[in-house]
Amino acid sequence: MKILIAGAAGFIGSNLSTKLLKDGHQVWAVDDFSTGKPENIDNLRQDKNFIFANCGIETEDFLKFCFDQGVKFDQIFHLACPTGVPNIEILGEEILEACSNGTKNILHVAREHDARFLFTSSSEIYGESEVPVQREDYTGNVDPIGWRANYEEGKRFSETLVMHSVRKYKLKATIVRLFNIYGPKMSLDDFRVVPVFLMQALTGESITVHGEGSQMRTMCFVDDLIKGLCLVMEKGNVGEAYNLGSDKAISMLDLAKEIIQSTKSESKIIFTPRATHDHNSRMPVLDKVRALGWDCNTDLQTGLKITTDDFRRRLATYHIK
Ligand SMILES: NC(=O)c1ccc[n+]([C@@H]2O[C@H](COP(=O)([O-])OP(=O)(O)OC[C@H]3O[C@@H](n4cnc5c(N)ncnc54)[C@H](O)[C@@H]3O)[C@@H](O)[C@H]2O)c1
Repeated sequence: MKILIAGAAGFIGSNLSTKLLKDGHQVWAVDDFSTGKPENIDNLRQDKNFIFANCGIETEDFLKFCFDQGVKFDQIFHLACPTGVPNIEILGEEILEACSNGTKNILHVAREHDARFLFTSSSEIYGESEVPVQREDYTGNVDPIGWRANYEEGKRFSETLVMHSVRKYKLKATIVRLFNIYGPKMSLDDFRVVPVFLMQALTGESITVHGEGSQMRTMCFVDDLIKGLCLVMEKGNVGEAYNLGSDKAISMLDLAKEIIQSTKSESKIIFTPRATHDHNSRMPVLDKVRALGWDCNTDLQTGLKITTDDFRRRLATYHIK
């Protein structure tokens, strides 16, 4: 198949590109490197079936790339959006642009190519949840003028754009709401909790837990996630949203301890003030995606070991450079 991936140089996009190329597909890939890294796709760029453009999805260059190739895309994965909590402010305009004009552009491409379309939304669309577990029909509790709104409302607006194309233009689109994902190819300087704790553990720095570390999160390994994305793309019901992630919760303090143990680190845990906008808990209901035949199979210990090996390898090269 001919597949377009927006956000292909990112953590998930580069893992997805690798998998689709391995399965024999041709991949057209786009990224503006706002949070993705060239080294994530260096090896893929040697493959003649990986055609890359360095541009933002909100630009004319992106549209030109999609329409000048002389091919019809069968599937489009839209993953393009800056990530990482501090970037909600640092890259606020870029997030809003990707989620509005960017999503509008890529939906236009999907309609013209008559491609199946999948949008990676986020558990953040549920905001500060008033319910202990989030089903897809929970409409969320987001403050439109709150600190996290650039990302939360950006993703919500993108979902609305997708649904508009489904209703008005009969686009064959699905939405996946990702809960915390981790694994190889996360940036060494990523702001998310697993890479931050891992880097601190591997370099012997203190592990910084926010507040008392009682915040509960669920962690899904990227290989499981990729299987889920491909499954929803193939079999998901058009016009529906699917939660994707793990439903095994761990507190951030226990995650820090787990990482110290799995890396055999001598790092100490220290407690730092917790941001007021930090959400208390996230827990997906996964019945819909399980009904399609998916599950999150990799346990945390196994996933952390694979991720640690990848971080160790990259850290070694990093120091040599
Ligand atoms: N990893 C998670 O835990 C998680 C959780 C919820 C949602 N998501 C969503 O999944 C998607 C992929 O996330 P990730 O973890 O791989 O993050 P990432 O930051 O590694 O990947 C996002 C990629 O999109 C690119 N990008 C950003 N804006 C762009 C634009 N305007 N045009 C082209 N490319 C652009 C970035 O450079 C980056 O390579 C994102 O949309 C993210 O919001 C991820």
